[in-house]
Amino acid sequence: MLTIESLSKSYGEHRPRSGDGEAEGEGAAPERVNAVDAVSLEIQAGELFTLLGPSGCGKTTTLRSIAGLERPDRGRILLGERVLFDGSSGVSVPANKRGLGMVFQSYAIWPHMTVFQNASFPLDVLPRRKRPAKAEIRARVERVLEVTELSSFADRRATKLSGGQQQRLALARALATQPDVMLLDEPLSNLDAKLRETMRFELTRLQRELGLTTIYVTHDQTEALAMSSRIAVLNEGRVEQVGRPRDVYTRPQSRFVAEFIGTSNFIAGRVGERVGELVRIETAATPVWSAAGAATPAQGSEVLLAIRPESLRVAAASSTEPLAAGAATRNEWPATVVSQAFLGDSIDYVLAAGPTELRARCNPSVALAPGAPAHVAVDPADVLVMPAA
Ligand SMILES: Nc1ncnc2c1ncn2[C@@H]1O[C@H](COP(=O)(O)OP(=O)(O)OP(=O)(O)O)[C@@H](O)[C@H]1O
Ligand SMILES: [Mg+2]
Repeated sequence: MLTIESLSKSYGEHRPRSGDGEAEGEGAAPERVNAVDAVSLEIQAGELFTLLGPSGCGKTTTLRSIAGLERPDRGRILLGERVLFDGSSGVSVPANKRGLGMVFQSYAIWPHMTVFQNASFPLDVLPRRKRPAKAEIRARVERVLEVTELSSFADRRATKLSGGQQQRLALARALATQPDVMLLDEPLSNLDAKLRETMRFELTRLQRELGLTTIYVTHDQTEALAMSSRIAVLNEGRVEQVGRPRDVYTRPQSRFVAEFIGTSNFIAGRVGERVGELVRIETAATPVWSAAGAATPAQGSEVLLAIRPESLRVAAASSTEPLAAGAATRNEWPATVVSQAFLGDSIDYVLAAGPTELRARCNPSVALAPGAPAHVAVDPADVLVMPAA
């Protein structure tokens, strides 16, 4: 549906930063920033495709390039068969001819209109042959105002809304036009936690119902995991990994992804022998068993193990129940509780297993005080093996 091929965009100078009181030195050498660096993506029709990454990784620049608000240095952007941008031939379809709906990080609403008029305006001004019937416009606007929880403000002046309400209005307005592709740049960033959660849910529901192909930008991993059909994790302008939320979470292909999406325990090691379905990884303290697969690096390779805190099972040292099955190939170690934090629905532990410090997230029924001896275990299937670099 939307194809992005080797898209690159760099900026030649320091970005002017107004208002942070720190004047950029006049003589400072301009520094090139590769905001987007050879990014290739293929977005399917009806997908909610998320660009996820830390601040400054190039999410907004990628989205603005797709929208036609930024001119990339290189690459191609296609909507179906239609070329929107081609760096080598110089083709660049103007933003208003691309048929894309957008909500940007800095959104603007029309102050002289009511909430309802704001949402219906882009439809009202469509050329006659493209414009839906009046009743259809009304129905669509009512629907999107409902989804964004703005129905009760329909007749209010848009200026008399809070920041979060204005953000929802910008979203409602874009949704009402039902564009070929929706581009959303952190559209929920100004909302409180509870409203954000409701809106996530409503937005995905509406997106699925209308089959709206959506590119969603966020730096919030939870939001990305909860909403996306697929996620592209970006780091310094490059794509680190693309995959379904579950795959990106459970099978991160790099330390960056494993660290950015959730937290992980990392242990350096070297690949040892295979025993049946398992592979032995030698680490400084103890061998760790992992499920072997086609992607497992060859024996002798330096690797990095990643273990999610929720994959670790913790029990009091006095417990007689074995934590892990299989005598010789089990991952079970004695440990000492270093600290614990009660989080309501779980308890976080920091454990010392020999020289290795491990973070574990457990059911609150596991109650161990700091200093207590414990056992910690992990299923080999939950030990992820990644290249060391
Ligand atoms: N107009 C510009 N001029 C110079 N540099 C820019 C410009 N816009 C972006 N950059 C730089 O390009 C990089 C990517 O910026 P971008 O806005 O795409 O990041 P982002 O992933 O959207 O971050 P955030 O989560 O903070 O919104 C950053 O290093 C940024 O400083
Ligand atoms: Mg941004």
